[in-house]
Amino acid sequence: MSTSPAIDAVAALKDVHRSTWASGDYPAVAEHIAAGPPAAALAAVAAGPGDHVLDVATGSGNAAVMAARLGLRVTGLDLVPDLLDVARSRAAAEGVEVDLVAGDAEALPFADGAFDRTVSVFGIQFAPRHQQVADELVRVTRPGGSIGLVNWTPDGLIGRVLRTIGKYVPAPPPFASPPPLWGDEGHVRALFARHDVELDFWRETNPWRFASVEEFMTFFEQAYGPMIKVRERLEAEGTWGDAREELIALLHAFNHANDGSFDAKAEYLVVSARRSA
Ligand SMILES: C[S@@+](CC[C@H](N)C(=O)[O-])C[C@H]1O[C@@H](n2cnc3c(N)ncnc32)[C@H](O)[C@@H]1O
Repeated sequence: MSTSPAIDAVAALKDVHRSTWASGDYPAVAEHIAAGPPAAALAAVAAGPGDHVLDVATGSGNAAVMAARLGLRVTGLDLVPDLLDVARSRAAAEGVEVDLVAGDAEALPFADGAFDRTVSVFGIQFAPRHQQVADELVRVTRPGGSIGLVNWTPDGLIGRVLRTIGKYVPAPPPFASPPPLWGDEGHVRALFARHDVELDFWRETNPWRFASVEEFMTFFEQAYGPMIKVRERLEAEGTWGDAREELIALLHAFNHANDGSFDAKAEYLVVSARRSA
């Protein structure tokens, strides 16, 4: 059976995303965001004993493993099977249980209302069709349940890094919205406007500390999938030097250290969305 070009285009983009997040060493990046952000997402949903929590785009399992450590029943979902394997090993090493499922945030393979709490930490913001994701998050969360999201803001450090590398590559297809928009309160309000949810927002920051700006840059260009893909493309075109210089200048602008090291705070938006009962 043939599929429409639009469906092919979406599937092709998901393949690119799968290979992007499988490249480099995402689990090493995740170690730098393993404390505050997952704790903020879990605080946003106020999970309690007996709750079944879904962690969407769990990656190497930061929020899922933290939730399991708190004694909650946890399912984690991600587009990339290799990352789920890392999450599985982490859960086993910590002696906690997490059910890990390969899948897409835009078409969650779960029944309506299957979860008491749904979280995502810097995860759903990378799926291309924002409205579809918001609708899916609400659908799988039971009435009276809640959704907690942690998203890099457009003007915070990582939002600015993403926007900078985005300038050097062709625009994404028209159906894809930029990830940093999920860090904008007005955008998130509009996505949930069609649903009966009560929203709260607050902002927090995640520290990134390295021996120098250059060390952070080298780590990111070798470990962080979205930057690796842009670097590979621009190296082939001979323009990576310009992009790298702009990124280094950005990192210096965010750096608070005055001893030659890199010490910056990256802002993120925390979203708490409670479904009415
Ligand atoms: C920045 S990582 C965040 C991972 C994890 N939540 C954490 O806190 O470390 C983004 C994750 O989103 C996943 N992802 C991207 N697009 C997705 C999609 N459409 N559906 C499910 N997961 C997706 C990637 O595979 C990756 O694991």
